[in-house]
Amino acid sequence: MSSIAPAVAVDRQRLIDWYVRNRERSRGLFDLLDPAAYYSRPIALRNPIVFYEGHLPAFSVIALLKRGLGLPGVDPQMERLFERGIDPESVDEAVPRSGAGTIWPPRDDVLAYGRRADEAVVAALRSAPFDLAGGEHRAMRNGEAVFTALEHEAMHQETLLYMWHRLPHAQKRAPRSVRYELSGASLSGTAVTIPGGVATLGADRSAVPFGWDNEFGEHAVEVAAFEIDVYSVTNAEFLEFVEAGGYRTRELWSDRGWAWRETEHITHPAFWVRDGDRWYWRGMFEKIALPALWPVYVSGEEAAAFARWRGRRLPTEAEYHRAAFGTRSGEERQFPWGDAAPDATRGNFDFASWEPVPVGARPLGASAWGVHDLVGNGWEWTSTVFGPFPGFEPMASYPEYSADFFDGQHYVIKGASPATARELVRPSFRNWFRPNYPYVYAKFRTAIS
Ligand SMILES: [Fe+2]
Repeated sequence: MSSIAPAVAVDRQRLIDWYVRNRERSRGLFDLLDPAAYYSRPIALRNPIVFYEGHLPAFSVIALLKRGLGLPGVDPQMERLFERGIDPESVDEAVPRSGAGTIWPPRDDVLAYGRRADEAVVAALRSAPFDLAGGEHRAMRNGEAVFTALEHEAMHQETLLYMWHRLPHAQKRAPRSVRYELSGASLSGTAVTIPGGVATLGADRSAVPFGWDNEFGEHAVEVAAFEIDVYSVTNAEFLEFVEAGGYRTRELWSDRGWAWRETEHITHPAFWVRDGDRWYWRGMFEKIALPALWPVYVSGEEAAAFARWRGRRLPTEAEYHRAAFGTRSGEERQFPWGDAAPDATRGNFDFASWEPVPVGARPLGASAWGVHDLVGNGWEWTSTVFGPFPGFEPMASYPEYSADFFDGQHYVIKGASPATARELVRPSFRNWFRPNYPYVYAKFRTAIS
């Protein structure tokens, strides 16, 4: 059990480069903001922005240095303050946990802490013993804590961008060249039938360098034949639902979805803005006339209501796998397009764009069945409640990562968004959200048995 993933043993420089790349990208994200926004909460249920700039280095210290290597931290007070984010059900619940009375430090102090943490983490990546797997060093099994720290930061960059998206445009400094892909063919309305077969979910611990606890273990699921949309649902298609009164039609919504819609007065996707008699897309840096061909980003409840309106439903997690990785021969692919490494020709991910691109605009990323954009351009909502796979075991480096969310209140989303790092693109990677969370870069397509 003291084995270590060979990649860790041989290539410390690759890990250092990844860490430094992560840190530079994070710094760039915080620098996009007007300093006046630093203590605001762009999403009521989340912590103020200052928390996240401290949380990223603090988490690496806690997961890798403390839990993994058994070393002391860098600053116990900062590490206590910045240890954990929140995911409460309502704003009221958020108050006691996020510390409405917390006195947050000045940004200079947060940045100074970050520099000390970075030095300590890079020093550990350069020379700490990684082959410590037993007893008190369980968190280092297969180098786990190293990857926990690295992937955690990459995942947060995406959730930070969701938050930045909510901030008023005046609080952001747009990079010099922001381009949008808007034109393309109108491709909606096609579906393909995928024959029954086996989908492999999860990963085998001995076959991957790293996976989060919820990705294990590997298991086969029989999937009956089903039909699925070739393209994600676009803004133009979703507009038909809005104009047909979809948001006012009780029978299209689950009880939970209807209650949310009523309480929050939801009448359109959170990424849409109404101005006069026209619809706009709430872009990261400006308002854009609603791009007809972009996938619509919606909550799971809105996606399910649209699917019901069409007489269809959302696909399950297993159906997603079958559509993305299955083939006619029964073999499964590493990625929808085959085994080639993920790059910008295969999909809109890895921070390639601030916004979506038209559906079907990356045909080299299509799956064996010709289904487009299963990885990239927005996560895909599924109808599967997030839960453990057979053999689930919490991770020693981050025991609360998944287990706290096996509450029946979260649904699996799969794939990747424009803000998902390429390191996270793998078949077993699972993401999850409450179905009424409307700010995630998540699209959907419909299916039917
Ligand atoms: Fe975190």
